[in-house]
Amino acid sequence: MSASADPLFSAPSLLDHIRPQALALPESGIVEVMNYGRKSEGIIPLWAGEGDLPTPSFISEAATRSLAAGETFYTWQRGIPELRAAIARYMTRLHGVPEDPERYYVTGSGMQAIQIALALTLSAGDEILIPSPVWPNAAAAAEVIGARPVFVPLSFDEARGFWLDLDRLESAVTPRSRVIFINSPANPTGFVASREALAGVLDIARRHGLWIVADEIYGRFFYEAGEGGLAPSFHDVMEPEDRILFVQTFSKNWAMTGWRLGWIEAHPSLGPVLENLIQYSTSGVAAFMQRAGVAALERGESFVAHQIERARRGRDIVARGLASSNRVRFATPPGAFYMFFGVEGETDMRALALKLVDEANIGLAPGTAFGPGGERYIRLCFARGEAQMLEATDRLVRWLQK
Ligand SMILES: Cc1ncc(COP(=O)(O)O)c(C=O)c1O
Repeated sequence: MSASADPLFSAPSLLDHIRPQALALPESGIVEVMNYGRKSEGIIPLWAGEGDLPTPSFISEAATRSLAAGETFYTWQRGIPELRAAIARYMTRLHGVPEDPERYYVTGSGMQAIQIALALTLSAGDEILIPSPVWPNAAAAAEVIGARPVFVPLSFDEARGFWLDLDRLESAVTPRSRVIFINSPANPTGFVASREALAGVLDIARRHGLWIVADEIYGRFFYEAGEGGLAPSFHDVMEPEDRILFVQTFSKNWAMTGWRLGWIEAHPSLGPVLENLIQYSTSGVAAFMQRAGVAALERGESFVAHQIERARRGRDIVARGLASSNRVRFATPPGAFYMFFGVEGETDMRALALKLVDEANIGLAPGTAFGPGGERYIRLCFARGEAQMLEATDRLVRWLQK
């Protein structure tokens, strides 16, 4: 057989025939470090955006009960009524919004909620404004559609931490702009938009006829407002007819990252279109997973409070350690569960992350994975128990002082 007829030889050329937008998608800079370090014995992995606790058993058991009861058939594309009602009650409890299940559509993860929000609003050639550094997936999902992410640099100073300059945001608007993506509290920077900043973003969106995709998945991980506090939300400043789509997930609050369960919140008039987008992607989330979601929302409050308190303690441990090292540029983040910091004398953060695996046995994520503005930073996830956070901080500080 000639080389060209051999499928093994001809396979790579298939790449020449796929959509350039698919081919151009970036590899995750976090996964590279994880693959490099995952075999290191005793490594403390602080690279991923998740904690160390497994899903509580009362949540998992709701899923197994559903499976045992034979809930294995196609189900509601928009989500089972019980879960949509539970989400509505939860959101009313949290934000004081009217209790309306017609605002909520269950998705197979927060990531899918983002994908659907963008499929609803962006066409090829459109622009989406994204404050950066930022968790990279929304920009990549826009690129899949053929839209163009326009990154708006967040400002930073050690007193204020990261903050969004509204003039900078508005000056990035062009006739092609369609969407502003706002993640607050933010991954990886810990940036939390004030209520005034959210009102300012909304004002820009209204004046230019833009959609807002509000990623408030870390809204409960907010350390400024005392226990049980909530970060400012677009719910606080919006009117019912504003063009805002909220994306949400069960991943972080209820330690369900592996489940892939989330929801999208939108004006009820968008329901039929959202349902179609769900139908033509996953056609809905497995009923047994949705039962787990109901259990999480209805019985998960003390677990969520426990997670937030753990993250707060983790944050304080790391902040104390970094402050003692004198080599680190950082501000203690008011929200989410990441420390995003620069290290004096280190310019190649990918190389630094690999060195920290080899020389300190801790796994961090290089800021290069988080878009423009992230190049001089490295991300540490502090959503872990106190003993591990103390040990990880000790390893990091000892390495920094070497
Ligand atoms: C800012 C942000 N949005 C959305 C997600 C999506 O979460 P998931 O797809 O696990 O629901 C993540 C996950 O890390 C995130 O950090």
